Amino acid sequence: MTDRFETHEHDVLIIGAGGAGLRAAIEALKFGAKVGVVCKSLLGKAHTVMAEGGIAAAMGNVDSADGWKPHFRDTMRGGKMLNNWRMAQLHAQESIERVKELEQWGALFDRTDNGNILQRAFGGHTYKRLCHVGDRTGLEMIRTLQDRGVQLGVDVYMECTITRLMKDGDRVAGAFGYWREQGRFVLFKAKSVIICTGGIGKAWKITSNSWECTGDGMALAYYAGAELLDMEFVQFHPTGMVWPPGVQGILVTEAVRGEGGILRNKNGERFMEKYDPKRMELSTRDVVARSIYTEVKEGRGSEHGGAYLDISHKPAEVVKKKLPSMYHQFKGLADVDITKGPMEVGPTCHYMMGGIKVDAETAASTLPGLYAAGEAAAGLHGANRLGGNSLSDLVVFGRRAGEAAAKYAQSASMPKIDEAQVSAAERELLAPFERQGGESPYAVHRDLQDTMQSLVGIFRVEDDLKKALAALLTLKERAAKVSVEGSRMFNPGWHLAFDLRNMLTVSEAVATAALARRESRGAHSRIDCPETDPVCGKENHIIKDVNGKMSLSTVPKGPLPEDLQKILEEA
Ligand code: FUM
Repeated sequence: MTDRFETHEHDVLIIGAGGAGLRAAIEALKFGAKVGVVCKSLLGKAHTVMAEGGIAAAMGNVDSADGWKPHFRDTMRGGKMLNNWRMAQLHAQESIERVKELEQWGALFDRTDNGNILQRAFGGHTYKRLCHVGDRTGLEMIRTLQDRGVQLGVDVYMECTITRLMKDGDRVAGAFGYWREQGRFVLFKAKSVIICTGGIGKAWKITSNSWECTGDGMALAYYAGAELLDMEFVQFHPTGMVWPPGVQGILVTEAVRGEGGILRNKNGERFMEKYDPKRMELSTRDVVARSIYTEVKEGRGSEHGGAYLDISHKPAEVVKKKLPSMYHQFKGLADVDITKGPMEVGPTCHYMMGGIKVDAETAASTLPGLYAAGEAAAGLHGANRLGGNSLSDLVVFGRRAGEAAAKYAQSASMPKIDEAQVSAAERELLAPFERQGGESPYAVHRDLQDTMQSLVGIFRVEDDLKKALAALLTLKERAAKVSVEGSRMFNPGWHLAFDLRNMLTVSEAVATAALARRESRGAHSRIDCPETDPVCGKENHIIKDVNGKMSLSTVPKGPLPEDLQKILEEA
């Protein structure tokens, strides 16, 4: 401890305490590592809880024909074949074991009549595949993993924001940040670092994401020199609340549709018949979100600009048992009884398919000593994620990241962090206090959200994307000049100044990649390039910092092995 900052040392430092971070911590501890987990919020308050409807794993408890091969096929088809096939294979194979493990660690899943874990239908999944706990699955998963991690002896640093990764030469050496309450600075030295910070929903105006989701991990990795992958793919969940305005965007779980919920427009038409007559409400999220958006745009929206989602044809006690959170959410926030009438819903920014480029087997990024898992990492979901595949992603690749980072730490010495890096990180943190008369970070954030919502949304077009990039440039200049008042203690404006820096960087990556992908694929819909292009489908986009400038390159996807190709062609 110096008078400027305190220091902590770990073999493995994990940034983010959602499902991926906690699962990584448990695995690294198993390999004997001294593990620290840092989180911006309180332990247990991660965005993982927003995956409500279930965790996808081909256990075959309800539909015995299910297995890893159909799960692999659905994931690849849902992702429009842009997925990293090896990640999709590992995910489909290992998620079954990871769910059983959660159960052994105390997760209380809903049961079938014969006592197995109950599974429900979800969009794009051929079989009933989502293991669930009512509509609170993510919450139960976090509770289970945090109990396990704490029992095993993980060191948790809550309400701590990381603003820079530290390096020793090319190698990642730790992280620097501050305590959100007191504003004191803190340095973490670590042999390896795992980023599990989730997504960037807060850059959009209408989002299911909470305040923590500001793209921190992706931005930190980018600043340190790591590569980002396929950043154009942002998921708009079809069903967020639309009314009243104060709750706009809050998630309405896909489990409502999984349990038989029906979507209608203001004329009472079941409009999914037009867009995907075979799968209807259980089409993939990209398709359902675009369908609702189109109904609204063409004047057939609900009273407050969404669609009606109705589950009231089911017995009230079934609705309350299967969807308890939705029942209370609508009763408490919108004064709507969903057992008696429809909900109003519309698309909400929910998830980032793009992120830090990682190796499928080890979750290693392109920087030595840096790993990433969960939403902060990319590859598994390709151009569109299937619901429920996020929770399984967290535990499958969280475990792999924890193991690989712990093994790396076993063979590495404690890195050195030079004083110049630390002082630069300190100066950066103090700068908003030293600037006088700059504008408030809140004003810049509001304009960023307007820009991303209106120009980089569900439907995109070249002209809008160019306008977005120009606007982001101006916003970056404004953000570099924001000033904050008061002290470092309990100062949310100061916190936002750094969240803003991250959101702007990641938003620029999204808009840059979206402009470069001249086709429509999954969640990326270009009005000016409406077709999927087989050539683009064989290419990934890499974003990297080159001499302080964001640079995009196109790289060919590796070929699919023959045995996996066969699985895709079956059925
Ligand atoms: O709709 C939901 O319950 C969300 C699930 C997910 O994003 O995986």
